[in-house]
Amino acid sequence: MLDLLVPIADDVRIEIPATHRRPIAIVGAGAIVDVAHLPAYKAHGLDIRGVFDLNADRAADLAQRHGLPRVYGSLDDLLADDAVEVVDVAVVPWAQPNVVRAGIAAGKHLLCQKPFAPDVATGRTLVDAAENAGLKVAVNQQLRFDEGLAAANAMVRRGWIGDPVAMSFTVDIDTDFSAWGWLVDSDRLEIMYHSIHYLDAVRAVLGDPHRVFATGARMPGQLPKGETRTVSTLVFDGEVRAVLEVNHNNRAGDARAEFRIDGTEGAIRGTLGLLYDYPHGRPDTLRVRSRSLPTDGWLTYPVTTRWIPDAFAGPMAGLLAWNATGRPAPTAACDNLRTLALVHALYQSMETGEAATLQSP
Ligand SMILES: NC(=O)c1ccc[n+]([C@@H]2O[C@H](COP(=O)([O-])OP(=O)(O)OC[C@H]3O[C@@H](n4cnc5c(N)ncnc54)[C@H](O)[C@@H]3O)[C@@H](O)[C@H]2O)c1
Repeated sequence: MLDLLVPIADDVRIEIPATHRRPIAIVGAGAIVDVAHLPAYKAHGLDIRGVFDLNADRAADLAQRHGLPRVYGSLDDLLADDAVEVVDVAVVPWAQPNVVRAGIAAGKHLLCQKPFAPDVATGRTLVDAAENAGLKVAVNQQLRFDEGLAAANAMVRRGWIGDPVAMSFTVDIDTDFSAWGWLVDSDRLEIMYHSIHYLDAVRAVLGDPHRVFATGARMPGQLPKGETRTVSTLVFDGEVRAVLEVNHNNRAGDARAEFRIDGTEGAIRGTLGLLYDYPHGRPDTLRVRSRSLPTDGWLTYPVTTRWIPDAFAGPMAGLLAWNATGRPAPTAACDNLRTLALVHALYQSMETGEAATLQSP
């Protein structure tokens, strides 16, 4: 790797010191725990005590394949395990608030899936309950830890492209939603469950927009109830703007999943490798072109890890570090309420046909 890029690689490496590791139990034995959570946690030597799922066979199969010591018979059993300090929740979205409430009542720190809550008001009650109990709750918004995105953000932080003025995601893929019955039945789909990742990543780089506009559509004859094509425009203070253009109905086979950040001194371009062959994908690609760096043309940063599973260590690393050091996790639930508020402002815009102003959550 070029010397110039070494500090960027150092900035984005996910590390979980042994002193931060606490015993974890998992609620939900679904697809994402299988392919992402557990492989990422195993790579970092985390201590996973067991799993509970309403579908006991699924939990037993997952535990057997990943070598987990225990399958809990109920959520109460899991929460009664005094050895467990952190509960990692990955259930269907509408079940999450009750699991979180029970986890807080049992004195556990929690990592929750995105979306954190069905609405901002519910999310706020969960955040308040955790704060009152002195517990830490973070959200598994892992795209901001994905090496390509994180390295791009590190370049921005180091001033490589001057002042950032624009960010975009252009995702044009063919997604088969049929494996997730609950997703197929959801009235809200694309922004709530997919673009929420891009929105959180944009927030990590540019901060919070104050006004947004979105339009969404379906593909004639599609299986899912909700929208599968969206365009979202985010307006920030000054000259800063972001655009997300996302289509899950690419029937031509020429998938692309690209992001770009433009600044006053240069630009950063990348691809999200995961989306070229979900859930395995390729490593991301990343290039930077800068008037303030000693380089000529586009400089390639060699991404070596993947969104799935590697980035999934990021939110857990942040939660464990928060617990160990008191430094809030980058995806602390109190901050993530702003990502949730952004999602809901975009749906408000989609439904009214008007731009929506962000309310502070
Ligand atoms: N990149 C990401 O961050 C990412 C990717 C995929 C899914 N997800 C999220 O992760 C969650 C799970 O997704 P999945 O793909 O694994 O879904 P899935 O349908 O494969 O699995 C969900 C599991 O949750 C279990 N479950 C439901 N309610 C429960 C409850 N009350 N207690 C215990 N178990 C319960 C179900 O039996 C099922 O096994 C969803 O919230 C989804 O939005 C996030």
